[in-house]
Amino acid sequence: MRFDERFLDEIKSRLRPSDVIGRTVKLRKQGREYVGLSPFTKEKTPSFYVNDDKGQFFDFSSGKSGDLISFLQETERLSFVEAVERLAAEAGVPLPAVDPQAAAQETKRQGLLDWLEMAAQWFEAELRRPAGRDARAYLERRGLPEKEWARFRLGFSPSGRTALKDYLVAKGARPGELVDAGLLIAPEEGGAPYDRFRDRIIFPILDVRGRVVSFGGRAMDPQARAKYLNGPETTAFHKGHQLYGLSEARKMIAAAPSGEEPPLLVVEGYMDVIACQRAGIPAVAAMGTALGEEQMEVLWRHHPEPTLCFDGDRAGRQAAARAIDRALPLLTPGKSFKFAIVEGGKDPDEVLREQGPAALKSQLSKTAPFVEALFLREKDLEPLDTPERRAGLKVRLRKLAATIADKDLAAEYKDELLRRYEALWPTAAPVNTVGGAARAMSQHGWKQRKAVQSGPTPETRAATERMRASPKPLSAALAVAALQDLSLMGDNIELVDRFGFGDERLKDFAQELVRLSYEADHVEMDTAVRQLQARGLDPSFLRALEQDARRAGVAAPFLDPGAARDQVRALWKQAFDLLVRLEALERAVAEAARDNDFTALPPLKAERDHLRRLINSDWAHEDAEKPVLPH
Ligand code: UTP
Ligand code: MN
Repeated sequence: MRFDERFLDEIKSRLRPSDVIGRTVKLRKQGREYVGLSPFTKEKTPSFYVNDDKGQFFDFSSGKSGDLISFLQETERLSFVEAVERLAAEAGVPLPAVDPQAAAQETKRQGLLDWLEMAAQWFEAELRRPAGRDARAYLERRGLPEKEWARFRLGFSPSGRTALKDYLVAKGARPGELVDAGLLIAPEEGGAPYDRFRDRIIFPILDVRGRVVSFGGRAMDPQARAKYLNGPETTAFHKGHQLYGLSEARKMIAAAPSGEEPPLLVVEGYMDVIACQRAGIPAVAAMGTALGEEQMEVLWRHHPEPTLCFDGDRAGRQAAARAIDRALPLLTPGKSFKFAIVEGGKDPDEVLREQGPAALKSQLSKTAPFVEALFLREKDLEPLDTPERRAGLKVRLRKLAATIADKDLAAEYKDELLRRYEALWPTAAPVNTVGGAARAMSQHGWKQRKAVQSGPTPETRAATERMRASPKPLSAALAVAALQDLSLMGDNIELVDRFGFGDERLKDFAQELVRLSYEADHVEMDTAVRQLQARGLDPSFLRALEQDARRAGVAAPFLDPGAARDQVRALWKQAFDLLVRLEALERAVAEAARDNDFTALPPLKAERDHLRRLINSDWAHEDAEKPVLPH
């Protein structure tokens, strides 16, 4: 069920946060706010504030904040919908009736998904029918007993050419629709479409919300042409975006007790995802392709540092090496990966079957940080037995660090990679033997990492560094407003993610807010806030941010508690657009200056200065460009 803004506003306008929250937290009035002991931590001095005007709570001890809905989500572990329903009942606001026209459209849009769901149920049923006998035996052999089938919705596609088609057509489907859904194959040379999946074990692929969007099918016959067959790209299924097991993994992460930080594993196969999840480890897999950038971004919405898991064999190492190259430019303080290796060339499914869940868990918890995986890969590329080769390694390390787009992180990587490089040759020891020993060591994987690893990772250091600097007032004001109402970011969410409210120093924080807003209508808000703290967000950061925001004064009318919601929205967007525009102009000026483009430079500068004045900034900001014009 979707609730529109007006409905939510109606509920909120009828309830006073201090009343609702006051029932579970003892609150005392203090000026325009209420204050009490944090319901999220075991504090002794009150730092939990409720502001009825803003309709928000702020908890400085845990860094959490939000409205009544998120308060209920956080404290009672309700889903967004459950929280809204509870509050609606309390406020005496009837739940919205369904608009018939919108409903009709939704039904149409859902059409494909409905057939996919119906197909999934049919596959599940077929597994239990006489035709599924061999499939059942196969699954038993692979250590997947019947009691596990339902959780992963495992099924079986019988061998008839049109068994599924006949079933769904009898239910009213048009064959064309079923082709669009990826369930049938339309022969290129014409002729009647037929079932895509025949005589295979079926793994339904669910989207992040748990809807069936496609299927993977495993042949039981070792002679089959393709071991796994996946559904094609359709309007419901974008392979580059999808991750097998994600909806289950996020449920597992959300259900973890607060304070615990579950990992998010990325493994190679369907059976591996299932093995991990059976062992209690949240895991996902790409669909028979290498992990792409889009999938990396999806992963980072759910975890700041997912663990990429590879076989210890050569192919596994190569896959890890490729993943490193693809991820490196995208890394930021809040977006990185860890690496884990399964010993003995096994995959997680085999480890679970042969050694049990405890062994799997313990193997997968031994991880190496990204910087270390990168370093070892480069170090092992060739023997370091000549000055030329040693210098070559140093050059590669510098170049690789420079490919990280995030400047702070690039600097941290360079420092750490060079430190590790120097540590290869402790001054007392003769060079050649130590080099050999180090090489031998890393050939056994990453087990010895503790010897080299010291202190926080570059990601953590860069995050702390960035949060120390104080941002421009208007940027801070935009950030504070967005924190109070995540929906303000609206269509600008991608820009917020990239520009950080027009201030580099707020980029981390902005990205966290973006992630929060992606998940705000789910229980995982909790997880995201914990992640924010885990990555070094000090509660004092929020306080400092508010102070900076206040300096924006009249330039940030959207912070006025008296402003109407529509007005706040419009004003926030206006201010944000201005900053985005200013940012673009600053870049253009810097570029024109660098290129000695004396025609473009003066008008660009004039416009930029005008904009700076307009924003009424009190941030005196030295020009980034070098003085190139002769005066
Ligand atoms: P693997 O060949 O490593 O198989 O492929 P696996 O996952 O260990 O499968 P089992 O244990 O033999 O059943 C890894 C993943 O690559 C994709 C599948 O997603 C598979 O799980 N794949 C593999 C395909 O898409 N097509 C194939 O033909 C093979
Ligand atoms: Mn396997």
